[in-house]
Amino acid sequence: MWQLIRLPQELGGEANDVSAFRVYSNICLHLWCLWKYYPDEGRKRGECPCHASTYDPMTGLATGGPASLQAPPSNVLPKPDLEADSQGYLYITPPKFDTASNGIVGYGRFVKI
Ligand code: FES
Repeated sequence: MWQLIRLPQELGGEANDVSAFRVYSNICLHLWCLWKYYPDEGRKRGECPCHASTYDPMTGLATGGPASLQAPPSNVLPKPDLEADSQGYLYITPPKFDTASNGIVGYGRFVKI
């Protein structure tokens, strides 16, 4: 499962291009429950209902809870890359599922933050 999100306004979500969006694996990096994105004021993050791990919508980095205590790459969500065509339709470019590229579902991704 994957989650497409539009970033909050203060993180560039009002841009009329691909930079306003992210796609992340929906599988929590702790024990593989399904996390959910909460865009509402005061949250603006991904939250896992099982043990309260939280995820940064900009990077996919675990920012709280047990997933944030795991060693890299198991603290950053897998993220396919997006591109847009001339009409504004978004596409996922063919992902490379390894930890140095788009990540491994349920395991994580190395990222420069
Ligand atoms: S499975 Fe998500 S915090 Fe444990």
